Amino acid sequence: MRVGVLTGGSDCPGLNAVLRAIVRKGVQEYGDEFTGFRDGWRGVLRDETVPLDIRAVRGTLPRGGTILGSSRTNPLAEDDGTDRVLGTLARHRLDALIVVGGTATLGIAARLAEDHGVPLVGVPKTIDNDIPLTDYTVGFDTAVGVATAAIDRLHTTAESHKRVLVVEVMGRSAGWIALHSGLAGGANCILIPEQPFDVDQVCGWVESRFRATYAPIVVIADSALPESGEVTLRRGTTPLPGADPRARLSGVGEWLGREIERRTGKESRTTVLGHLQRGGAPSPFDRWLATRFGLHAIDAVHQGDWGAMTALQGTRITRVRLAEASSTLKTVDPSLYEEAGVFFG
Ligand code: F6P
Repeated sequence: MRVGVLTGGSDCPGLNAVLRAIVRKGVQEYGDEFTGFRDGWRGVLRDETVPLDIRAVRGTLPRGGTILGSSRTNPLAEDDGTDRVLGTLARHRLDALIVVGGTATLGIAARLAEDHGVPLVGVPKTIDNDIPLTDYTVGFDTAVGVATAAIDRLHTTAESHKRVLVVEVMGRSAGWIALHSGLAGGANCILIPEQPFDVDQVCGWVESRFRATYAPIVVIADSALPESGEVTLRRGTTPLPGADPRARLSGVGEWLGREIERRTGKESRTTVLGHLQRGGAPSPFDRWLATRFGLHAIDAVHQGDWGAMTALQGTRITRVRLAEASSTLKTVDPSLYEEAGVFFG
């Protein structure tokens, strides 16, 4: 078969491992030929391709980023975008397309499959882990590992100087990275976008932690916001459509550090982990997940299971419907957040 492949949206560790598995199994077991599209949907729109064969994927398993490049281009937002996409796919005489992406990239895929019958299969990736119907997405475990290692290091310097250390992690509309790394790193307070926070309560936790003789670590997700009040933020992240306008710019960690210092008189420092969480080598778990998703995606192509997305449910790789998986975001369940609350303060 002739199979097109693209990686779209924010990059994350493990994308090359997905591509490698697709190509290795596709070439060796099915005799497929691949066309890689450059920079996500932008490459399909502009008909820009990248060689994708066994040679291209050799040695890429531990490499972060994506050899295809990525972008957040949405072809459906352009007047003639759909026609141009369909034109490119026809010109390359593709029998199938594999789309590796987050909810936005996969949402475009779902529309093209449903409305125009494009034969495609999706693979979920994002450090944010916010795609429904799969327990984990490619990239999440690595990001949690980076954030946890940083929190471990910040504990010792916080204790030496008796300071509050605020750590801002990524996650967009979901607090998964904050929750998992905060628990794994022994944070004294975890703030997530699903649960607007009360700054006075946070200051109360900070003070009680000082009374217990330890300097506190506060983990805050980049889109977490206080229940009320103005937040002065700096330039930063790309906004999600429909997000709270106050969450459009990153910098909430710095703002919170300043507020804690002003209200408690305790010296505070903020560390913004930023894109460190998205770069570098994938963790062993992400390599395992990415490889299995890639192997299952090429099988789905050969079974003609169009509109399917690979998913991890428990330890099994299953298939779910792309349309369902891209229609909403998987956010942190309130009961999981409450469970973590025993460690606050
Ligand atoms: O969606 C992945 C992500 O890294 C989010 O966690 C973060 O909020 C956002 O992208 C950052 O976007 P950008 O790379 O455009 O600054």
